[in-house]
Amino acid sequence: MSSQTPIRRTTVPQISARKGGEPIVSLTSYHAHTAAIVDKYADFILVGDSLGMVMHGMESTVGVPLDLMIMHGKAVVRGTQKALVVVDMPFGTYEESPAVAFRNAARIMKETGCGAVKLEGGARMAETIRFLTERGIPVMAHIGLTPQSSHVMGGFKTQGREEDSWPQHEADAAAVTEAGAFALVLEGMVEPLAAKITKQVAIPTIGIGASAECDGQILVLEDMLGLNAWTPKFVKQYGDLGPAIDRAVSDYADEVKTRAFPGPEHTYK
Ligand code: KIV
Repeated sequence: MSSQTPIRRTTVPQISARKGGEPIVSLTSYHAHTAAIVDKYADFILVGDSLGMVMHGMESTVGVPLDLMIMHGKAVVRGTQKALVVVDMPFGTYEESPAVAFRNAARIMKETGCGAVKLEGGARMAETIRFLTERGIPVMAHIGLTPQSSHVMGGFKTQGREEDSWPQHEADAAAVTEAGAFALVLEGMVEPLAAKITKQVAIPTIGIGASAECDGQILVLEDMLGLNAWTPKFVKQYGDLGPAIDRAVSDYADEVKTRAFPGPEHTYK
């Protein structure tokens, strides 16, 4: 018998069952403290490899190591109780073969306690998605603008601008669905294509810079909070924390320099 109170989190089947239903709310988080706030409102939290750029100042997500994802994944799981936590598989940890992908995904699941992994790629990753799901690892797929392939794509480019490219994206969506993915992120994709794919597939689509027709939406938390110096055009900012932090740090620096801080109420007697 366990002495711990079990935590009841949103499950993978509960997310899948939201297809065509109440929109799925999701955000990224990388730390325990922000994840604890997001946990109150989100159905799932993604520990995205965007953390390489957002948190660690990298130029792309390509350099993100597996150990870093695991460290942030652990923090987010510790900080949350309710949301399903999904952890990104970073570049180089799953493309080589289904067996390599399984070994690394199993490490992520065991060491972080998360409920699922996400990986980028469509038809080319279908065999791996099937291999993982058949062995107990739920997979969220990610197609459209796939940042780990930015070197091949020539940058972060909106996908589907040419209508003759649509069949490839539709085939990718069908392939990952058929392979057993429980949900599908559509990133940086023209609106009508994302809406079309959402109608075609049986799993929930999660849009980011895609379409309001998607079954759910995700944003990078720091982007919507106004914490990043640069954000993609499609991001709606719900907060303006960058200037608020700047003001607080500047006030503190002024008070330290003028010996106004710490005042008597901020020292131990
Ligand atoms: O890494 C990330 O944050 C992501 C989201 C943008 C979907 O993959």
